[in-house]
Amino acid sequence: MERKILLVDDEEDILLTMQGVLRKKGYRVTTALNGREALDCLARESFPLVITDLRMPQMSGEELLQQVRSLWPRTAVMVLTGYGSVESAVEAMRQGAVDYLTKPFDPEEILLRIERVFREQEREEENRRLREQLAREAGKRVILGESPQIKQVLELIDKVASTDSTVLITGESGVGKELVASAIHRKSPRRHRPFIKVSCAALPENLLEVELFGHEKGAYTDAYEQRPGRFELADRGTLFLDEIGDISPSVQVKLLRVLQEREFERIGGTQTLRVDVRIIAATNQNLLDPNRAVPFREDLYYRLNVIPIFVPPLRERKGDIPLLAEAFLQRIAAETNRPVKGITEEALTLLQKYPWPGNVRELENAIERAVVLAENEILGTADFAFLRPAEQEWTALEERTLAEVEKEHIRRVLQKVNGNKNRAAEILGIHRETLYNKIKRYKLEV
Ligand SMILES: Nc1ncnc2c1ncn2[C@@H]1O[C@H](COP(=O)(O)OP(=O)(O)OP(=O)(O)O)[C@@H](O)[C@H]1O
Ligand SMILES: [Mg+2]
Repeated sequence: MERKILLVDDEEDILLTMQGVLRKKGYRVTTALNGREALDCLARESFPLVITDLRMPQMSGEELLQQVRSLWPRTAVMVLTGYGSVESAVEAMRQGAVDYLTKPFDPEEILLRIERVFREQEREEENRRLREQLAREAGKRVILGESPQIKQVLELIDKVASTDSTVLITGESGVGKELVASAIHRKSPRRHRPFIKVSCAALPENLLEVELFGHEKGAYTDAYEQRPGRFELADRGTLFLDEIGDISPSVQVKLLRVLQEREFERIGGTQTLRVDVRIIAATNQNLLDPNRAVPFREDLYYRLNVIPIFVPPLRERKGDIPLLAEAFLQRIAAETNRPVKGITEEALTLLQKYPWPGNVRELENAIERAVVLAENEILGTADFAFLRPAEQEWTALEERTLAEVEKEHIRRVLQKVNGNKNRAAEILGIHRETLYNKIKRYKLEV
């Protein structure tokens, strides 16, 4: 912001003295001898600050103040007043002046106060700029974060973006897997081609197959027309297979073939189609877990897991929370048109303590809830009261050692079997001797 000041006073020597003081400090100063002249200056160029005398012939400082407030609301107005007319200065403040100075002036004090106004003006401008930018970017979201963990993810994105390698993104729900996938696409040479997403969990098996590979006319009763699948639509672009852990064994086989050969047939078709598609898959499951209800083929897993990207849960990168919270706050305030401007340090600390089982998405939702329901311009801990019970539960959990949990469990089993140690050892799956030892150690004697 340019440090320009418009000085308005009908006494020329006052204008000259003040101008001298302010110019020495690097302000650009324009002077006007009355309200009319001042309004002309403002019409020609914008000034972040107007300093005006109150008592002037023709147009009073109050009138000028009112005009400026209504015509240039971003311009701050500071008023000058002689001794003994402080009431008029107070009235001017009520009308929207940011501050007042009494004559004769103490140069030091003037400079201090002007500096304060400029700082405030700059802060507001910065907020405005951020809001506009966030509103503009509402459609294309960027990955925010400054923790080493997220920086590592960003570096990995940069590295793989230029290649065609298949990527498997893993991480808990809401950590930003989809955001990572679209970032890879946007930074890749394929960015001008489509980014096609398939939510594998959303569709039953047969529909997912059609969705992926398309069908020929007459492939089945409802197939009146030929229909291209997502693989075709994504040609020369990126195909994002979200929630890949939910695909059935038969679709797994078909997918494996496309990954190996880059070719497939539409359902009901005989013609083999070749596609040039970059594949990114994502899952919040452990695909190799032997206890999975539907096993995931190992060969498919290794085909997908060429470049693994793990997005860590938010609770393991709490350093990102303040930045994310502020950014969400600004964006949501702008989107919902709520007059919320910031958040207290205390509230940020509270947010950093909370474990965020739903990760970044949960944080985003919490901020939205707080912004929409807020009573004040600055969000405080009270605005996040709805997080409190969970936070306490978490603290309680953190404070429990494994030994305490074990002790509690043994105690309950013993109670259930009425102190029958043989039976209890059986249930617990440990030797009777071990159980005796634990009972002694935990003083569980029944
Ligand atoms: N680092 C981040 N910076 C900014 N916004 C983020 C970040 N991470 C996640 N988000 C936002 O959080 C929300 C959830 O992200 P996303 O949908 O990518 O998560 P996900 O891992 O795919 O979740 P799920 O497993 O539930 O599908 C989105 O609104 C996203 O924009
Ligand atoms: Mg997702």
